[in-house]
Amino acid sequence: AVLWAYGYQPQTVNETGITVFEFSQKGILQRTGAEIEDWLRSDPDRPALHFSPIRHWMNDPVGLCKIDELWHLFYQFHPSGSDWGPMHWGHATSRDLVNWRHMPVFLHPEQNLWRLGATGGAFSGNAFRDRDGSLMFFYTERLPAYDLFKGYREIQKIARPDRLMIKAEGIVTVLEERPDGVEHDFRDPKVWWDDTANAYRMILGASIEGDPAVLLFGSGDGLDWQYLRPLYRAPVNFRQEGARAVECPDFFRLEEKWVLVMGFVGHVEPRTRRHNLLYAMIGEFIDDCFVPDVPELQLLDFGTDYYAMQSFEAGGRQIAFAWLFNWEYRKPEGSAYSGEMSLPRVLSLSEDRKRLRMLPTIEVDDHFAAAPIVEEQSGKFSLPMAPIEIRLSGALEGSKAVATQGGELAFEVGVAGGILSIRLAQDDGSIHYVAELADGKDLRLFHDCGIIEIFADGGTVCGTRRGYANINPDYLEISSSASTRVLERDAKRCCAAAR
Ligand code: FRU
Repeated sequence: AVLWAYGYQPQTVNETGITVFEFSQKGILQRTGAEIEDWLRSDPDRPALHFSPIRHWMNDPVGLCKIDELWHLFYQFHPSGSDWGPMHWGHATSRDLVNWRHMPVFLHPEQNLWRLGATGGAFSGNAFRDRDGSLMFFYTERLPAYDLFKGYREIQKIARPDRLMIKAEGIVTVLEERPDGVEHDFRDPKVWWDDTANAYRMILGASIEGDPAVLLFGSGDGLDWQYLRPLYRAPVNFRQEGARAVECPDFFRLEEKWVLVMGFVGHVEPRTRRHNLLYAMIGEFIDDCFVPDVPELQLLDFGTDYYAMQSFEAGGRQIAFAWLFNWEYRKPEGSAYSGEMSLPRVLSLSEDRKRLRMLPTIEVDDHFAAAPIVEEQSGKFSLPMAPIEIRLSGALEGSKAVATQGGELAFEVGVAGGILSIRLAQDDGSIHYVAELADGKDLRLFHDCGIIEIFADGGTVCGTRRGYANINPDYLEISSSASTRVLERDAKRCCAAAR
């Protein structure tokens, strides 16, 4: 067996990037900068536009922020296993939101008891810039062996970056006590400064007397927190459908409205048996109360693999990443890593302010060649071994795009009877991933090594799926009377994930 670990070499990080140490029977092997880059490029299963870890398990995006000209992506990371395990914060930086440079592990868990079968760790949380400009990260620490009978306990902490943004330091616990009626799940803080209240506010995902809920806390100094009230309590059907608690709640101001996004751990949607779905609500935030415009939750994505979304504000844009995963499907055994991030998406509201819109950020557009490989025609085309974008607009009804690899289905996307659907090689045929889509709209589809992200009707209809079979299609057949363009990645703008 080979064990992978990440070394701390802060003094060399600026010149050569991260150093990876491989411990094997042959001894210790050290790989740096260009070597890692070659190694990642040579992996045919690795998407080129979507971030993935060098090795091992990754889940939620966390601590997202931009400092000067550099974007920072942190992520839930198990640095010595291909399954979920003791959670660390992995770290990568980018100048364009698409090409990422791998950095050393940023934050380590307090307890590491996985050998005892008890895993916890430094869980999800957000980056917060205080009014004096100082940056800190709020996060949850799960203490796995807190009580042999009750199991784990979750507490909230602050970590601050060192001068070089390489390692977390100055860790303090800021919230330990759960309000009455709140069980073990008590995690994933999102903190902001609230001008109206003239105080700090934090939300946490939890449950109240068994109902999944989002809890609101307040603080005058960011260190001492009081429970204020539930911000949201899920309707009873969520509990009946298996939901145990809210995870990764996101709450942010967008175009004079407030948007709440939530995942529900354990929830299985009865109609399609999907889990890991995200739901959104749009409304007002008045006197510490969230007042949704309509009581119904909006399904954020009609696919299966868009979870734990975290958004943050940068230069006037609300940008989001999410983890592309579903516990039902896994990468095939022997894969170098598990987990990818979505494309960076920019959030806005639909014109009637009833729906959240998500579209790839402009930085993604910059990575596609100006000259399309296909324009204004239907037909059968060979595909490059690289990410593509398909754009259809106008007469979408009856359109179909089928990609194959060696004659076998890779993916099929179509619009029929006002219904947009995605089918992958791995689907058994009985499950349909569908959304309503009126004719005369637009549709953008990105394909990158098995990852499909669809943005239709200006981004109000989004569908994300992770395919694990036939992920490098060689043919694409499009039949459509809509105006059609297929763009390929601009090789000049692109390089492998690590530098
Ligand atoms: C969501 C989640 C979070 C938690 C983290 C642990 O995927 O379960 O609630 O903080 O992952 O890795």
